[in-house]
Amino acid sequence: MNREKIFSRSVLEKPESKRAARSNATLDLSRLIRMGWNENPYGMSPKAMEANLAAAKKGHFYQDFWCRDMKNAIADLYQISTANLVVGAGSSPLIEIVGQAFLNPGDEVLMCPTFAAFIDMAEIRLDNIVTVPLCEDMSYNLDGLAAAVTDKTKMIVICNPNNPTGGYLPYDKIVEFVNKVPKDIVLLFDEAYIEFATAPDCKSALPLVFEMPDRPILVMRTFSKYYGMAGVRAGYIVANEEMAAGISKIPGSWIPAAAQASVVAALSEPEYYEECKAKIVEGRDYITEELGKLGCTVYPSQSNFIMFDPHTDCAAVRDKMIEKGIMISTPMFCRVSVSTKENNELFIRYMKEILSELKAA
Ligand SMILES: Cc1ncc(COP(=O)(O)O)c(C=O)c1O
Repeated sequence: MNREKIFSRSVLEKPESKRAARSNATLDLSRLIRMGWNENPYGMSPKAMEANLAAAKKGHFYQDFWCRDMKNAIADLYQISTANLVVGAGSSPLIEIVGQAFLNPGDEVLMCPTFAAFIDMAEIRLDNIVTVPLCEDMSYNLDGLAAAVTDKTKMIVICNPNNPTGGYLPYDKIVEFVNKVPKDIVLLFDEAYIEFATAPDCKSALPLVFEMPDRPILVMRTFSKYYGMAGVRAGYIVANEEMAAGISKIPGSWIPAAAQASVVAALSEPEYYEECKAKIVEGRDYITEELGKLGCTVYPSQSNFIMFDPHTDCAAVRDKMIEKGIMISTPMFCRVSVSTKENNELFIRYMKEILSELKAA
């Protein structure tokens, strides 16, 4: 096969997918306690589960292509118009759609080390992805990003709270940054984890979409994390009407009927999710404290995962943890997702064993 003749120039020139490279396809997921992919151990609310199963019975029909009920439910949540929404089958396809909607060859995209899907989205289209290092304390480097802006900068990706660090940007710093950078740069805020935040100044950039209607601001959310629907697939972008209409020109990622129904039902049961959040925050505090006692450097998290430096080989810690039956990840240092109380305690017990095994070796 003549690759040169068959594939598009983008595919021929693009390096391997960063996201695919980070996942290990040989893992036996059925055997593992999943604390590696920032999934929510509590799952969907009871009504969302019921709606999901009921929709499966009508799986021979197409879904509502216009996602009317789902859009209305999200619009009601924020008291905004459905014209401000773009919906998709989770953030990952929406990230691709945003790339398609805004990036031309020659444009530059700026970001700090963050979720790998952004690199994939930019690499398939551009030669110029500028990755600005995080600050020394691992916080997202807004000053560095502002300083890296050139006349080619088309988009800046801001992940808040950031993955894999779990750290956040205080709202006043976000506002300061938005006021500092040129007005025609697309600002893409990924807030996949913001519902887990407890710090009073960890706030969504969503109001800025409406306070600064002339600015190309996108706020992206997913139902994968807080709403426990990672495998169900639903997410959305909030933007001004012109931006939303522009993005909507791209045939979207169809959202399965079961996902649409689950979203509507989930948004009617906020109490369920508040209870799950309380348990996750408790687990986050527990893991943070216990890892600290074990001598790890733990990065404060506002999300449902915790990044920590075990001061030993991170890959060895991950592999030993997987051998014992718990999946964790190593995107920068080690990263563990908060799970149930029982799983969190097991993880800490195994960490004690692994760190003493590695010290003894
Ligand atoms: C920062 C961030 N954004 C987006 C996503 C993707 O979420 P989704 O499941 O909606 O594709 C993830 C998934 O881990 C993430 O960490």
